[in-house]
Amino acid sequence: MKKICLLVSFVAVTFSCTARQPIVGAGKEVDPYHYSITKTALFSKASVVSAHPLASQVGAAVMKRGGNAFDAMIATQLALAVVYPGAGNIGGGGFLIARKANGQLLSIDYREQAPAKAHRDMYLDSAGNALTELSQNGHLSSGVPGTVAGLFAAMPYAKLPFAELIQPAIDLAEFGYVITEEEAANFNADKNDFVKYNTQPLAFVKQVAWKGGDTLVQKDLAETLKRIRDNGAKGFYEGTTADLIVAEMQRGKGCITHEDLKNYRAKEREPLTFTYRGYQVISFPPPSSGGLLLVQMLKMIEPFPVARYGFHSTELVQLMTEAERRAYADRAEYMGDPDFWNVPVKTLTSDAYITARMKDFVPGKAGKSETIKAGIIKESEETTHISIMDAQGNMVAVTTTLNNHYGSKTVVGGAGFLLNDEMDDFSIKPGVPNMYGAVGGEANAIAPGKRMLSSMAPTLLLKNNKPYAVMGTPGGTTIPTSVFQTIVNMVDFNMSAADAVNKPKFHHQWLPDLIYMEKDFPDVTASALEKMGYQLDRRGNIGRTEVIKMNNGKLESAADKRGDDCVAGF
Ligand code: GLY
Repeated sequence: MKKICLLVSFVAVTFSCTARQPIVGAGKEVDPYHYSITKTALFSKASVVSAHPLASQVGAAVMKRGGNAFDAMIATQLALAVVYPGAGNIGGGGFLIARKANGQLLSIDYREQAPAKAHRDMYLDSAGNALTELSQNGHLSSGVPGTVAGLFAAMPYAKLPFAELIQPAIDLAEFGYVITEEEAANFNADKNDFVKYNTQPLAFVKQVAWKGGDTLVQKDLAETLKRIRDNGAKGFYEGTTADLIVAEMQRGKGCITHEDLKNYRAKEREPLTFTYRGYQVISFPPPSSGGLLLVQMLKMIEPFPVARYGFHSTELVQLMTEAERRAYADRAEYMGDPDFWNVPVKTLTSDAYITARMKDFVPGKAGKSETIKAGIIKESEETTHISIMDAQGNMVAVTTTLNNHYGSKTVVGGAGFLLNDEMDDFSIKPGVPNMYGAVGGEANAIAPGKRMLSSMAPTLLLKNNKPYAVMGTPGGTTIPTSVFQTIVNMVDFNMSAADAVNKPKFHHQWLPDLIYMEKDFPDVTASALEKMGYQLDRRGNIGRTEVIKMNNGKLESAADKRGDDCVAGF
């Protein structure tokens, strides 16, 4: 096995008074007090790539003990809820896309939804001004969480008992684990917000600053996870946990009720499937915009000689930017929860429509979002992604989110988990940008029980009808463009999984009319685009993409260089 190992061996410098315990059921593979980050590896049988080494190791250990990719997904997502509180969650939602070894496709929508008391103008003041503080932070920003329902919706495809899959998460919460430098920096940066949006004690705040290597123990969260272990989804949506959520809502003027929780259901959706240069792409349909944007962007560039243009060439970056602009303009106009809004999926993905959308593309000349609107026919960036493949050939991609980093910043008092601030993914007022700068209208207006438009794009690639790659990323509105570029990097430029993930990325989302570029994006291409008339904005990281790709029968696995992301497998 080829391993590039960035050794981040932590010595726990603070110790809980609890005696240290091994992770039950995960064997020696998972040591919460000493672990390292492995960025790339070639595994023979099974692989998990996620945002945290301990979560990836938990998933791999489950498969070593006879579990399949679905078991690994459930155990990994639950472990992430403990070791990656910024986005791993039980208080948020997500999307699962999978292909079983027998070829059956599956997509599970466990997106948060608006509470029954939510209404269209709930984030407007009496003068009609948008109150983004309320949609982005604190109790009122939370949608009804979907994650626990989603995990149980995946259980019929798993092999091991749920109690075994959740136990590593319980142990990590109860006995603690050492945090990374990055997590310590995040806790310190958000301390004031945690204090502002909470009235009850929470594990993420302490008097002195956090340091990498400190031990985080989450007793309340461990008790919540035990209730889920013992009572199933009802351990979250009913009983003590539901009482604690509703009490938290009442302390902070939130509006989630017992009924909202009891009524929440994960939904099976029809996966979006299409081809790009002979590869079959399988991605998530509405209420995510992610899959639709991917179809549109890949189909818009397919007629062009992308490989001949060259990687990061001015021609190619301009072409991809113009595809991104057009697809995101359609997002703002047409996309929303399909149970509430008729999303014209067929038209938006039809060859005729896509060809027409690129008719006004002029090579060498910058388009303008002022004039290029939606097509005419009669949706901080914290989310997290898990890619998994197992020895039987099951492929599972899950993207899950609290929306912003640490979501609403509100921890359910006595229950120890963060609630999402997903309500901001609705269009709170037509034309008013959400935290990602995305605008929307009627299609994505708030309504009780409606699911807010997402950009998440967990995606599978098949070659000759056989598993080829599993991928996805966090990044808010940059998610579809990161997946778009990762696919182009692999398909058109034959890149390794690591290169496809780590090469600098760029992003255009129609409005604002800018090309965002990572800091290491090549200057020569950037200058040439400026000369064409594009406005550029250098920014920090775009995405944290996790890819597993077939390589001569082996699982070439790559965790994004942009965080603590880590591969694990065997
Ligand atoms: N909250 C980010 C997304 O769902 O797109």
